[in-house]
Amino acid sequence: MKRQTPPQTYRVKSFGCQMNVYDGERMGELLSARGIRPAAEGEEADLVVLNTCHIREKAAEKVYSDIGRLKKEDGSKPLIAVAGCVAQAEGEEIMARAPAVSMVVGPQAYHRLPEMLDRAVKGERATDTDMPAIAKFDALPQRKKRAPNAFLTVQEGCDKFCTYCVVPYTRGAEISRPFSDLGEEARRLVEAGAKEITLLGQNVNAWSGEDDKGRAVGLSGLICALAEIDGLERIRYTTSHPNDMEDDLIAAHGEVDKLMPYLHLPVQAGSDRVLKAMNRQHTAESYLKLLERFRAARPDIALSGDFIVGFPGESEAEFEETLSLVDEVRYAHAFSFKYSPRPGTPAATMENQLPREVMDERLQRLQARLNRDQLAFNEASVGQTCTVLVERKGKHPGQWLGKSPWLQSVWFEGDAAIGDIVTVELAEAGPNSMRGLLMENALA
Ligand code: 5AD
Ligand code: SF4
Repeated sequence: MKRQTPPQTYRVKSFGCQMNVYDGERMGELLSARGIRPAAEGEEADLVVLNTCHIREKAAEKVYSDIGRLKKEDGSKPLIAVAGCVAQAEGEEIMARAPAVSMVVGPQAYHRLPEMLDRAVKGERATDTDMPAIAKFDALPQRKKRAPNAFLTVQEGCDKFCTYCVVPYTRGAEISRPFSDLGEEARRLVEAGAKEITLLGQNVNAWSGEDDKGRAVGLSGLICALAEIDGLERIRYTTSHPNDMEDDLIAAHGEVDKLMPYLHLPVQAGSDRVLKAMNRQHTAESYLKLLERFRAARPDIALSGDFIVGFPGESEAEFEETLSLVDEVRYAHAFSFKYSPRPGTPAATMENQLPREVMDERLQRLQARLNRDQLAFNEASVGQTCTVLVERKGKHPGQWLGKSPWLQSVWFEGDAAIGDIVTVELAEAGPNSMRGLLMENALA
């Protein structure tokens, strides 16, 4: 590769999960600390980081077409780094297939991006897909993010090995970041303006650590400690695994005011045979029992989940068990996906992969029920008075958008600013948002 002029501007494009959003922000901070500034909207960046996702669909193919399309106004290519889970899974292949890429960096190695950039400017290409997870966090600069809501990665990786999933291979083994580091990062986020923090992890409820008195604590202990931070008003966490759910985390939902009444607990399927083939290590019944306990601790809790339709060998009757489970839970919100074979995972080579048409049809039926329940949940909250954390301006002047405690998008009109926590009455329900009437703005 040719020697390049050092980049003045960068753009990080993150795909996939919230953890990628968090990683993307941190890569941005690393580059900013180097004096490179984020490209303005519409401005061509000298350095583009594609922060990729490998969980579903033809993510890798998409990366190659994105690389092909990246061009500056004068026709030259920007410096390109491929990061994220596709980088981890297919690093060498990317280097071989895409000569325009000068850096490939895995999710546990992106703290080394500045060094790699120095080499890229000299015309060298570099790949780093090592997995020393904790080292990364120690090597990142201090946080400066200004936003009313912030993500905080507390746990990474997965030891569960669901048979369809690439995460254990791309993100590595489960690790928990130390309690004191998290308190520190949370305080900085709050000082910079965060009112709400969402704790992130592939198995966030598997987080464990030692508190400042040396006692072993789980996620509920961390949440209780963070709830002590003045100025932090709301705490959320995602994503949980049913098998790591501890009693005290369930209880915290009834005891910690700042912990929002929302739970994202993926189930994936309603048939025990399919769950077993997925290696989920829970049954439909044990999952439903868990949800009952959450509802007992916090009756208004909004429940959310993930579903996969068309897992290899899933029969029509087994799929209908998923529909029955949905009917029983009545989710406030959910994500549903067609099964997508991931290279290297056990399910990808299982017999009886289902035709696309069957998956399409099942997904439509499942989504119709999930949409029905989401609307019903929204309709049932009409008339409630609740807080809204204002996140951005709406389409029209004087309009604001934010989130209710149940993570519904709420828009309202009136005197407010980004970062305010206002009280609204929920006046009207749509499938994806609520209209609120501003009652009071405690901060205005
Ligand atoms: N195919 C389809 N969906 C998948 N997910 C994970 N792997 C796959 C796959 N191979 C879904 C699961 C998981 C969510 C993050 O993505 O529902 O909970
Ligand atoms: Fe993937 Fe299962 Fe781990 Fe979730 S629990 S990240 S679905 S292997």
